[in-house]
Amino acid sequence: MKSIVILISGRGSNMESLLAAIAAGSLPARVAAVISNRPDARGLQSASAQGIPTRVIDHRQHADRAAFDAALRDEIDRFAPDLVVLAGFMRILTEGFVRHYEGRLINIHPSLLPAFPGLHTHRAALEEGVRIHGCTVHFVTPALDHGPVIAQAAVPVLDGDDETTLAARVLAQEHRLYPRAVRWFVEGRLHLHGKRVVFDALQDSSGALIAPRDVVD
Ligand code: GRF
Repeated sequence: MKSIVILISGRGSNMESLLAAIAAGSLPARVAAVISNRPDARGLQSASAQGIPTRVIDHRQHADRAAFDAALRDEIDRFAPDLVVLAGFMRILTEGFVRHYEGRLINIHPSLLPAFPGLHTHRAALEEGVRIHGCTVHFVTPALDHGPVIAQAAVPVLDGDDETTLAARVLAQEHRLYPRAVRWFVEGRLHLHGKRVVFDALQDSSGALIAPRDVVD
């Protein structure tokens, strides 16, 4: 069975969704370790309560980004994972680190990339007045929140939304999307062709999402 290492920085709800999918039998993978750059990340307690090895590589105890990334890489490589999964890992990674895991490092971002990279994506979506927002799972490249898209889930932006309601709607989709994307990876069903990710199965071509719906017509 393929093994994964999950990197977190805080709450860890995406990590939980992966652990829940494994427990439910819908994600055939083994979590070799959960690693955090913050000792107080809430997700660490919950991972270790579920019997998963946890480690902390505290970025504040390293002189610079390169030293932190080298220590992180050493720790990850001790577990020899097939895939490294960023799940709310809030550090910018150096090019050397990213290249070391090329094709086996993925991230989930709370927007429909390439729209709204960086922080405060829900605020930005509301400020721009977009009608459709969502989340993206992508391979990581040296450019922040950029890289071949594996999967996206879209949600409508509703009148009356604020950052909290919109974030919650997106997060619910993150929790559905990430376990699926990781499953496709560990099953060997997705392949990188240049900048595009290609799946080994036929896909439905009629999945349009229109928002707002049923309001004007
Ligand atoms: C999620 O919205 C994720 O997309 C973003 O950071 C948040 C992490 O939440 N990268 P959690 O720690 O998984 O609960």
